[in-house]
Amino acid sequence: SMPAYACQRPSPLTHHNTLLSEALETLAEAAGFEANEGRLLSFSRAASVLKSLPCPVASLSQLHGLPYFGEHSTRVIQELLEHGTCEEVKQVRCSERYQTMKLFTQVFGVGVKTANRWYQEGLRTLDELREQPQRLTQQQKAGLQYYQDLSTPVRRADAEALQQLIEAAVRQTLPGATVTLTGGFRRGKLQGHDVDFLITHPEEGQEVGLLPKVMSCLQSQGLVLYHQYHRSHLADSAHNLRQRSSTMDVFERSFCILGLPQPQQAALAGALPPCPTWKAVRVDLVVTPSSQFPFALLGWTGSQFFERELRRFSRQEKGLWLNSHGLFDPEQKRVFHATSEEDVFRLLGLKYLPPEQRNA
Ligand code: CTP
Ligand code: MN
Ligand code: MN
Repeated sequence: SMPAYACQRPSPLTHHNTLLSEALETLAEAAGFEANEGRLLSFSRAASVLKSLPCPVASLSQLHGLPYFGEHSTRVIQELLEHGTCEEVKQVRCSERYQTMKLFTQVFGVGVKTANRWYQEGLRTLDELREQPQRLTQQQKAGLQYYQDLSTPVRRADAEALQQLIEAAVRQTLPGATVTLTGGFRRGKLQGHDVDFLITHPEEGQEVGLLPKVMSCLQSQGLVLYHQYHRSHLADSAHNLRQRSSTMDVFERSFCILGLPQPQQAALAGALPPCPTWKAVRVDLVVTPSSQFPFALLGWTGSQFFERELRRFSRQEKGLWLNSHGLFDPEQKRVFHATSEEDVFRLLGLKYLPPEQRNA
């Protein structure tokens, strides 16, 4: 028996049904490109169920009784089991629509809406976007400028090197403040599209205004290629936790592109062009007050689908509203206190899942 919510079962990084789950995820992604939320969720949920299975699916009968396997997902799996490929998935992956939407949404600062608008206007390539700089935000310009580096996966060694740099800058700015690696790398991924960090200080209030100083410190070292700072909105929206619809948090943050110094390879004399000395990497820096840290850590560790399921579980099964700031009981109008992720799982009546088992 398979529990219905992804937050009720372990989802390891590597599993036994990758080919099958990737096919369903392609269909989910394509549905997202068409803003078809219902289809996106159905395919995502079915794909996620496959990730939690203890063995490979070898026959269709194994799907009986699994949640979220409707007619469409079942048909895709059947075709894959019988022929090794699925015509619909193949067609989606080859289509101009899917490929262009994937290309555009991969640019930093470009979401589905913008990508779709450009597609409808007939735009198809990054060079065509570059020819219309007046239509691009600063963020998108930076995304295009560093596209090549940013579309190359960030490796774990890069993430660790960045942590060292950021820790040094944070330590210099505010002794006692801590830097925690979150996102995909905390879930054990070996590579990612960016590196995510949470910054806090054990004494609440000390962290206020920290980020601009940390950014200046990084800038003075010539490490910042682009950054977009968002001040904290915690003060002027004391009730943000009570806004159940809002999934965006309001922490002080910086979405940046850093130039990560690369170890110089010993070049054969004259045989190779000199290799670049740095590589552009997307980095998310988020500052949280210590009382909200467990919720922020849980919220920023992901996966994105795991977070979505956790919030759905809280709301539908427990009547509680969860986000990266806290957990709220709308009936009793009270917030819960937590000092660790384990506490939050306990408050929700869930068995604790370590980050490596949240790859839903
Ligand atoms: N997140 C968030 N608010 C944002 C952006 C991201 O709460 N504005 C959360 C996402 O829900 C996710 C986590 O932060 O759980 C990490 O997001 P992201 O870096 O996009 O994904 P990763 O899982 O780290 O994947 P990747 O390795 O590709 O970076
Ligand atoms: Mn990430
Ligand atoms: Mn991120």
